[in-house]
Amino acid sequence: MRIPLIAGNWKMFKTTKEAVAFAEEFKKLYKDTDVRAAICAPYTQLTALKAAFEGTGIAVGAQNVHFEVQGAYTGEISSAMLEEIGVDYCIVGHSERRQYFNETDETVNKKLHQLFSTEIVPILCVGEVLEERDAGKEFEVVKTQMEGALAGLTGDQVSRLVVAYEPVWAIGTGRTASPEQANEMCAYIRKVIEDLYDEEVCDRVIIQYGGSVKPSNATEIMNMDEIDGALVGGASLIPADFMEIINF
Ligand code: 13P
Repeated sequence: MRIPLIAGNWKMFKTTKEAVAFAEEFKKLYKDTDVRAAICAPYTQLTALKAAFEGTGIAVGAQNVHFEVQGAYTGEISSAMLEEIGVDYCIVGHSERRQYFNETDETVNKKLHQLFSTEIVPILCVGEVLEERDAGKEFEVVKTQMEGALAGLTGDQVSRLVVAYEPVWAIGTGRTASPEQANEMCAYIRKVIEDLYDEEVCDRVIIQYGGSVKPSNATEIMNMDEIDGALVGGASLIPADFMEIINF
């Protein structure tokens, strides 16, 4: 049984003061459900959010990590630093990092290896850009990203993984993939994992959809058979909207 995961990705929004105000309001609205909820916040907000959500079941995630254990990497954050403060999840390979910060399938792969040496669960983002979908290459692109990301990982490790299918053309654009398009790709991702590992592993992987998920479309997306959750950008910044998505 896969427990759906609905995670907010705050990107570079909210100061600590704003994050704590969000947490206080969100806790008032939050009721334990069959869905796991998480907020992936900027590094400087993680400790405050862990404290604010203590005892609630609401998880906290980071949005990036460095792939080395430690070293002379000015400005970077290690998996041990995240683990020490109790971070539950870490997004890896978000399209914004691929686009603006030279994230490649190779660095994504190294980051997954690093995270799997801790208890932190990686949320691996994959997805095609518009030109790739228009050229009918979306499956090929996602397969390449998946194979690159998972290289050298064991079945045990991959069965703990969360994958987020985020078509780049649907992020922050208000343009959502249709529930059928999202479902089709999530099914395809599971098949890629099955081909690389086995049925037992692929049955355990949580596969989310991300891209303009909001209260008005969460129900139809979450009701699709192959979709186990959502990675929510803009709508996760507003407590009532994020709660409505969790209650889809
Ligand atoms: P939006 O929900 O704002 O489109 O962002 C999606 C996203 O990038 C989540 O990681």
